[in-house]
This record gives sequence, C-alpha cells and structure tokens, in this order.
Amino acid sequence: MAPAPPRNQRDHRNQGKTFLVTGGNAGVGYFVAEELAATGALVVLGSRDAAKAEAAMAALRSRVPGAHVRHLPLDLADLSSVRTAGDRLAHGSTHGSAPDPAIDRLDAVVHNAGVALDDPPRRQTKDGHELMFGTNHLGHFALTQGLAPLLSAAPAARVVTVGSFAARSERLDLDDLQSAEDYRPKRTYGRSKLAQMSFGFALDRHLRALGSPVLSVVAHPGGALDGLTPSRPPVHVTSPARRLRTLPAGLLVQGKHAGARPVVRAVLDAEVRGGQLWGPRVFGLRGRPRSEPVPAHMADREVASRLWSISAELVGADPDLGFRSRCR
Ligand SMILES: NC(=O)c1ccc[n+]([C@@H]2O[C@H](COP(=O)([O-])OP(=O)(O)OC[C@H]3O[C@@H](n4cnc5c(N)ncnc54)[C@H](OP(=O)(O)O)[C@@H]3O)[C@@H](O)[C@H]2O)c1
Repeated sequence: MAPAPPRNQRDHRNQGKTFLVTGGNAGVGYFVAEELAATGALVVLGSRDAAKAEAAMAALRSRVPGAHVRHLPLDLADLSSVRTAGDRLAHGSTHGSAPDPAIDRLDAVVHNAGVALDDPPRRQTKDGHELMFGTNHLGHFALTQGLAPLLSAAPAARVVTVGSFAARSERLDLDDLQSAEDYRPKRTYGRSKLAQMSFGFALDRHLRALGSPVLSVVAHPGGALDGLTPSRPPVHVTSPARRLRTLPAGLLVQGKHAGARPVVRAVLDAEVRGGQLWGPRVFGLRGRPRSEPVPAHMADREVASRLWSISAELVGADPDLGFRSRCR
C-alpha cells in the first residue's frame, strides 16, 4: 500500500493538552499518537528505545506538520524506569541535548505498550516478574501511581487501557498470577490483558468512589495486522507482496491504523464515560468503534480487588495509587 499523503494541517481542538502513549513508537500506539498529534496536543511517546522513538517522531512530523511530540524513556519491564518516568514528566529532564520542560498536567495516558510471546521459555522482567504479566499489567499499574498527581491536575483526565479480545476467554488464577506453576505463553498473554482490563474497570470504580474527575476507560483494537497497515516509513513499511498475502485476512480483521480508532475515541470523545469498553463493531474484530457490554468476568469486583492488592504489593505501590488525596 502506497504511503498516504501527509495531512495538510493540524486542527487545534486539543492545543494545550498533553497525552502520553506508552509504546507510541510502533504499531497501534504509533497510530494513536498520530491521531492525537493531529488535534494540536503535545503527544509524549513512552518508549524504551530512543532510536525507535526518534524514528516515530520523524514519521509523525512528516504526517502531521507542526506536530508537538516528545520522547519519554520508559521501560515497563523495569520498575525503576517506570518510577523515573513519572518524575521526569512532572519535573522535566535535563538530560540530552534538548532538555524537556516539566509538564503541569496530563490529560490522558494510553496504556498501550504490550509484549506477547508465542513460545516458551518463561521470561522475567528486571524485577523478576513474569514478562507479560509484569510488563503489560504491573508496569502500567505502577505507572498509574506515578502519573496520579499529573492526571489529577488536569480538569478531566483519562486513563485509557488497551485490552484485547484474547482476554474474553481467559480467567485469572489469583494463586498463580505469574504462571510460575503452569506457563502457557498464549494463555499467560490473555491473562495479562485480562488483568489490565479488570484493573481498568476497577480503577474507574475507585475514582468514582473518590469523586475524582479522572476517568478510566478500556478499549481494544480487535484483530490488527501489520500486513493490513499503511506504511509509515521509517517506523513501518508494508511491501506490496505482503499486503497482497494479507489481503484475505481483511475480511475478518484490520490494520493497526484502524485498530487505533477505538483507543483514540476513548481518549477524545466527550460522550465516552468512565468504566466503558470500546472496540471495533464487527464481531469485536474490525470496523468502526462502538461501546461494548463489559463481560461479567472483567467486572468481577472480588477478583479485581484481590488483583489490585497483590499488584500493589508486588510493585510497592500505595494501595490507593495516590489518587485519594488529590481528588476535588
Ligand atoms: N495487534 C493486535 O491484533 C492486538 C490485538 C489485541 C490487543 N492488542 C494490544 O494492543 C497493544 C498494541 O499492540 P501492537 O499490535 O501495536 O503491538 P506491537 O506492534 O508489537 O507494539 C508494541 C509496543 O509496545 C512496546 N513495548 C513492548 N515492551 C515494552 C516495554 N517493556 N517497555 C515499553 N514499551 C514496550 C513496543 O516497544 P519496542 O518497539 O521497543 O518493542 C511497541 O512500541 C498491546 O497492548 C496489545 O496487547 C493488539
């Protein structure tokens, strides 16, 4: 697929706002960042790889002339990096040739970055947690606490968690959240996404109970394949041959640009409510975004509450994630 021409201009709907997209350097996250940058906001790419973040910022600027973008070093598989990331945003960074000024509020964070392993062996984060549960769930859980002051400082911030269709058929094993006893990579991935989604819904209940203006929303991209995704050199290039091979799959699933749409909707749409689940309309796999019923197992309060306390203990977080004292 030939690269689409750049947009002629940004609009200014969200000038003055700041959005953080974890894993904004690639895949769905890149396209979320592109859409958000086009609204005039400052978009911060949370990425563990400076070269990939630079490449994504170059692609973003070529697509969205005048885009305000910035890189935040962030490795979700390393809790010390997660803690530093919140501080860097709040206090600015003096590292590098172009120091980043502090920001005083965060209008949304998109918990998008994710790792999915297909095969054993079981791998671990720097802190010794199973890699998918540790990165996808625990990393974002800890990041939420680090960002609580900045989110609470915005008039109506959102935490948007990117879940997955794969979580529908999974159930959490609260006695073996890290698959230490029984490791099956696909199941462990699905459960890590379920943990994220369960936390996303629980976070909204928590915020409502506190009277906080912050909303927590869950969105998922359906099935999103690189081969159906338009090129964004140097971040991603789909060759004509690959595009042709993947074309039949387009009957069922979509590209990552389209997978980004429910996520962008969850960030921007004034009609979106906390605790909602957004995904693609056709079998939850492709198509325009819509709000979906939340499956009962994702809204199970008892499971979510145990998951929350175990997660807080594992990452050394404040049990209320730092939101309590800052609500209005
Ligand atoms: N694609 C699908 O069909 C699909 C379906 C359901 C749900 N999802 C969810 O959608 C989200 C995006 O998926 P995708 O298909 O766009 O994946 P992707 O193309 O593989 O991109 C994943 C992103 O996550 C980042 N990442 C991985 N580990 C990280 C870490 N330790 N610290 C910081 N960033 C890290 C990657 O950074 P690097 O470039 O440095 O690796 C990359 O930017 C994920 O949460 C995934 O679970 C995807």
